[in-house]
Amino acid sequence: MRILICGANGQLGSEINELSASFSNLEFVFSDLPELDICNREMLARFVSENQIKGIINCAAYTAVDKAEEDSKTAELVNATAVGNLVAIAEAQNLKLIHISTDYVFDGTAHFPYSEDCEVSPIGVYGKTKRKGEEFVLTSSSESIVIRTSWLYSSFGNNFVKTMLRLGAERAELGVIFDQVGTPTYARDLANVCLEIFSKEDKMDQKGKVYHFSNEGVASWFDFSKAIMEMGNVDCIVNPIETKDYPTPAQRPHYSVLNKAKIKAVFGIEVPYWRDSLKICIEKLME
Ligand SMILES: NC(=O)c1ccc[n+]([C@@H]2O[C@H](COP(=O)([O-])OP(=O)(O)OC[C@H]3O[C@@H](n4cnc5c(N)ncnc54)[C@H](OP(=O)(O)O)[C@@H]3O)[C@@H](O)[C@H]2O)c1
Repeated sequence: MRILICGANGQLGSEINELSASFSNLEFVFSDLPELDICNREMLARFVSENQIKGIINCAAYTAVDKAEEDSKTAELVNATAVGNLVAIAEAQNLKLIHISTDYVFDGTAHFPYSEDCEVSPIGVYGKTKRKGEEFVLTSSSESIVIRTSWLYSSFGNNFVKTMLRLGAERAELGVIFDQVGTPTYARDLANVCLEIFSKEDKMDQKGKVYHFSNEGVASWFDFSKAIMEMGNVDCIVNPIETKDYPTPAQRPHYSVLNKAKIKAVFGIEVPYWRDSLKICIEKLME
């Protein structure tokens, strides 16, 4: 099966690229802006048929959560309208589709890990546009699923892990939010899950169209940064601060831990603990 990876230069797309050699039953076509813009339906349809694509993993997104508050038009185009394009092409050309979404579709008022059937109620532009993108997939007749994930980091691209390592080397002390709780997720682990699902013969949406995947366990951004400093051997004091003391344009959920029971049961996936995966990523960064 030949699979198109959209947004291939981002964190998740780059991890899929690196893992792709281990999946010899799959062929890959990697694409990103400007050569393939998922907002351009004609370009996308032509590219898919010319390259004889049979499956798509959509890693492309507008991921700048704060910037989205003032640039909602672009966020909507990439996170919602373009997903409509992918779904329309998947239906017309009979393709399988994995679309990636986010824990930010929840408002964060829960006190237990969110399962797939919990009510969504995004509180920012990014989450709202990602939810609209999900809706195209959920109502599609194509064989397509949404995988929601949280707090992605990788050795590729810019992310919280790299920012903490850089700031930790520059400063003696840092304040990091402790009243937002979720689960850090190594994009490599998510990449592996997407490719495992595509490798399986089974119809991937027969047990529903939404799945949750993050690493195992729970952390605040403060806990996450303490672990980064410790594993990266960075001598920087991290102090816990409250969200109100670090105002940002976008509001974020206070609690967004995902329940992964469904993806584990349906696809037989083992989920690594977040600290174990973080250690692997930091060791790779240190090489
Ligand atoms: N990062 C997180 O913490 C996080 C958390 C939960 C869920 N997610 C979701 O996980 C998925 C992967 O995230 P990520 O962190 O790997 O994202 P990322 O690093 O920001 O990569 C996204 C890629 O998509 C590209 N792109 C943007 N607009 C495009 C378009 N119109 N056509 C084609 N490509 C386009 C970007 O190019 P440019 O860089 O040139 O714009 C970038 O290379 C996304 O769906 C995201 O919403 C992410």
